[in-house]
Amino acid sequence: MSHYRHLDVRKLTPTIGAEVHGIDLREEPRGEVLDELTRALHDNLVIFFRDQEVTFEQHMRVGRLFGNLQQHPIARARHPVHPELLVVHADENSKVVAGEDWHSDITCDVAPPMASMLHLKVVPPVGGDTMWASMYAALDALSPSMQAYLETLTAVHDGGKPYIGHYKAKVPEGGFPRSEHPVVTVHPATGRKVLFVNKGFTTHIKGMRRPESDALLDFLFHHIESPKFNCRFRWRANSIAFWDNRCTQHYAIFDYFPQVRTGHRVTISGAPPVSARSGTVESVARPLDVMAA
Ligand SMILES: [Fe+2]
Repeated sequence: MSHYRHLDVRKLTPTIGAEVHGIDLREEPRGEVLDELTRALHDNLVIFFRDQEVTFEQHMRVGRLFGNLQQHPIARARHPVHPELLVVHADENSKVVAGEDWHSDITCDVAPPMASMLHLKVVPPVGGDTMWASMYAALDALSPSMQAYLETLTAVHDGGKPYIGHYKAKVPEGGFPRSEHPVVTVHPATGRKVLFVNKGFTTHIKGMRRPESDALLDFLFHHIESPKFNCRFRWRANSIAFWDNRCTQHYAIFDYFPQVRTGHRVTISGAPPVSARSGTVESVARPLDVMAA
C-alpha cells in the first residue's frame, strides 16, 4: 500500500485508476511531488485530475517531465501551431471517433508511447466516458499454462488497421508503420508482466495459420473486456487523464452524438517493449511486403 505525503490519491477500483487531488498542474511538479506522481501512475496505471485549467504550454510541460513528446503519425490530427498536441474533437459532424474500441496507443511503432495525457475542455452533459483496462490483471487472470504459451508468441501490430478505418487516412508512401512485439512484455518500471496485444492494432500472431491466430486473438480481445480489469472515468470540463500506455488499454465511448467533446492530448515517447520470454528487446519494424501467415 502506497502512502503519499503531498498528493491525495483516491482509487477508483482496487485494480486500476485513481483520482489525484491536491495538485495544480499549472505549476510545474518537482522533487517529491513529481516522485509521488510517478508512483501514483505506476500504482494505478491511469490517474485523473480535476479542475485543471492548463494552457497548451503547461500541458506540454507536464508531459515533458516524463519523456519526449512525439507527434501523431497522422498529420491531420495534429494541432496546427503545436504539432506535439493531438486534437481530440467530436461534434454533430462526427460519424466515427478515433479510439472507440479497446486499444493501446500507436503499438504499430517499434517503440510505442510510454504514456498519454488527455485534457478535455468541452464535454457533453452526459456520455463520452473513457474506460481503461489493466493488462497486468488481464494476464494474471489467465491460467499458468496459457500464460506460459503466450510468452512464446510474437504478434504483428499494423497502423493501417485503425488509421484507414478511423482517420480515413491515405496510405502514405512506404505504408503505415508495422511492427512485431512479444505477446507478453515486462513493464520496465514495475517489472510486472503485461499482456501486449490489442484489437486496435494487432492483426495476427506470427507463424500461426490465420484461423488459429484469429481464434486466439479473438479470445484475448474478449478476455480483456472483463469489468474486473477496468475502470470508467466520467469527464468534466478541465479533467485530465494520464495513462501508462505500456500496461493498459482504453476505450473512448462515442455515445454522445451530436454533442461536442473536445480537448488535446500529448503523447510521451517510449522504448521498445522488453520480452517476458527473453528479458530483451525483440520488437522489430516489419517489412511492408511481408504478408500475413
Ligand atoms: Fe487512444
